[in-house]
Amino acid sequence: MDNNRRPDSMARITTKELADAFIAEQVEAVRKQVGDKKVLLALSGGVDSSVVAALLIKAIGKQLVCVHVNHGLMRKNESENVIKLFKDELDANLIYVDATDRFLDLLAGVSEPEKKRKIIGAEFINVFADEARKLEDIDFLAQGTIYPDILESFKQAEGKKAVKSHHNVGGLPEDLKFELVEPIKLLFKDEVRVVGEALGLPHAMVYRQPFPGPGLGVRCLGAITRDRLHALREADAILREEFDICGLAEKVWQYFVVIPDIKSVGVKDESRYEGWPAIIRAVNTKDAMSATIEEIPYSVLHKITDRITHEVEGINRVLMDLTPKPIGTIEWE
Ligand code: XMP
Repeated sequence: MDNNRRPDSMARITTKELADAFIAEQVEAVRKQVGDKKVLLALSGGVDSSVVAALLIKAIGKQLVCVHVNHGLMRKNESENVIKLFKDELDANLIYVDATDRFLDLLAGVSEPEKKRKIIGAEFINVFADEARKLEDIDFLAQGTIYPDILESFKQAEGKKAVKSHHNVGGLPEDLKFELVEPIKLLFKDEVRVVGEALGLPHAMVYRQPFPGPGLGVRCLGAITRDRLHALREADAILREEFDICGLAEKVWQYFVVIPDIKSVGVKDESRYEGWPAIIRAVNTKDAMSATIEEIPYSVLHKITDRITHEVEGINRVLMDLTPKPIGTIEWE
């Protein structure tokens, strides 16, 4: 039997009871597969890798070694939250690597979107591989592969072309050979979330909006600079805070800020103040193949504009992107 194919008989995991049964089955399977050996996992803090981490901590505890790579393109407090949850609360064996300088140095002056994506994807593998080489006695690599990833690879094998090169963790170099542990590879995203909640992960983490592998790197348009990246991170945090406050976070599938590499003239403290515009994107979709624009009340937009322009150094305008997909993709790059 092809164990990458979901059997027709497999029930959809929609309840805590079904999730508990799945967890018990996978805990057993993982223990059987890895015995007393160690397993490595790249823990980004996204839903899939977090659920795999929680599942493996339950199955094999400290035999799991998690590596969290901060590529410097994370949202505000994201890495801190990963450390707080997994290291402090779940007592995971977690290695934190702050690789901000490695990534930002490589990206300096690079403005072409696909080139940026390739650099981020390749450097992620380099950093992770460097950490893996430092560790001894690792036989297994866990991955948060889910069923849509497998279906996507079937499609690509049939020669269908992607609009963007999606980059998360690609293949590791030849000298690093591990056997794969992929406990959620037959699950759809909604099932991963049900399993995550059953494992006791926080609701906000399990239901968090999708965040692309290249992170803020594809939202700081053109050649990334540290000051514009900082402004983006702060403005994005304000947007998320305000969406949480007014309940839009529950209604909108994905919402974020984009900052283009242009400046306009403004005025502050009676002086000329050139700054970047912050562009708000808030979309709803079922499968990310097409997307519609969510209506945001003007009062909310006014408050966000007011906060961003007053609290974030370097931003002097706030704009709203009203473009559906198609024709605009969800991300700008
Ligand atoms: P686009 O911009 O193609 O995005 O309309 C569709 C969805 O995919 C996310 N996205 C990515 N996710 N790695 C990811 O894991 C990536 O490289 C990547 N690029 C885009 C995007 O945020 C949206 O949800």
